Amino acid sequence: MQDEPLLEVRDLHVWFGLRRWGFGHAGVVRAVDGVSFTLRPGEAAAVVGESGSGKSTLAKAILGLNRPAKGQVIFEGKPLDSLKPREMRWYRSQLGYVQQDPYGALPPFMSVRRILGEPLVINKVGSKPEREQRIREALEEVKLTPVEDFLPKFPHMLSGGQQQRVVIARSTIMQPRLLVADEPVSMLDASVRVEILELLQKQQEAHNLLLIYITHDLSTARHFVQRILVMYAAKIVEQASVEQLLDNPLHPYTRALIAAIPEPDPENAATFKDVPPGEPPSLLHPPTGCRFHPRCPAFMKGICDVKEPPDFEPQVGHLVACWLYERGQVES
Ligand SMILES: Nc1ncnc2c1ncn2[C@@H]1O[C@H](COP(=O)(O)OP(=O)(O)OP(=O)(O)O)[C@@H](O)[C@H]1O
Ligand code: SF4
Ligand SMILES: [Mg+2]
Repeated sequence: MQDEPLLEVRDLHVWFGLRRWGFGHAGVVRAVDGVSFTLRPGEAAAVVGESGSGKSTLAKAILGLNRPAKGQVIFEGKPLDSLKPREMRWYRSQLGYVQQDPYGALPPFMSVRRILGEPLVINKVGSKPEREQRIREALEEVKLTPVEDFLPKFPHMLSGGQQQRVVIARSTIMQPRLLVADEPVSMLDASVRVEILELLQKQQEAHNLLLIYITHDLSTARHFVQRILVMYAAKIVEQASVEQLLDNPLHPYTRALIAAIPEPDPENAATFKDVPPGEPPSLLHPPTGCRFHPRCPAFMKGICDVKEPPDFEPQVGHLVACWLYERGQVES
């Protein structure tokens, strides 16, 4: 693995202004509010968080689809906001995107051959026979074989799992260096989820992709990523290697998430009493201080509700935004 970061997200803020019917603003949803992290080529990282925590907004900002209010996305040392239109097209060619809903991701009136061929045509890759060869290889990689059977099919002729395989083939056919997979299996039958995740993992390893896997499910993330970023109410509250995070979770929210993972062994099963009651806060009016304070079992009055915790690093590479670690102590 190289040492230079491929992707840097620096103090990123993405806000949405809400319009009131009639006049003026009804407020600002701060969907991503000061997020920073660095990832290297070939790394697989998961962004884990509850619904509405800002995961897709973060993904879209990385893909250049959401404009940040503040902060930067930096790819290979180049800030996205400094790219000229031609460079932006280059950046897009370095990206793959697998979205949550395969059913809406594929154009209904295009055959699989055309769907996979389109990025190659747009980017003027190879001659016609070379493109055909590449399309066939891409289908083989995602195990849609015999290839001849799938090339002429239209999306509605495929199952959800097959459609997601086509989406994965399309998102990797340009050999991108960064693949963002936003809840890639949440709309699929449980029976095909593992296969699709294994396929993503294979693609990531085979092409040395930087993979950002977005999910609300920590239990699937831990099987194929090296790093986990935990998102709560528009902020990353903890980031660490999988081992550090699972063996020694530091943030009370991460501890609650881990406690909520169903245990196959009923003897060790965590119960929902371990999860703090309550809902994630509104991003229109987030709580003062630490956003988790209304639900936190370790809440310290006068500190947690007043000052927002910065990132502390009580162990090398293990960052946590929580006042418990202000003096660097690590509780186990
Ligand atoms: N275009 C938009 N305009 C206004 N608010 C938005 C917009 N997109 C997202 N939001 C709000 O931003 C917040 C974060 O949304 P986002 O879709 O990023 O969350 P998420 O973590 O991906 O959730 P889920 O797990 O349900 O997909 C939510 O409160 C959402 O309503
Ligand atoms: S800063 Fe305070 S409220 Fe927030 S997670 Fe840490 S202990 Fe809990
Ligand atoms: Mg989402």
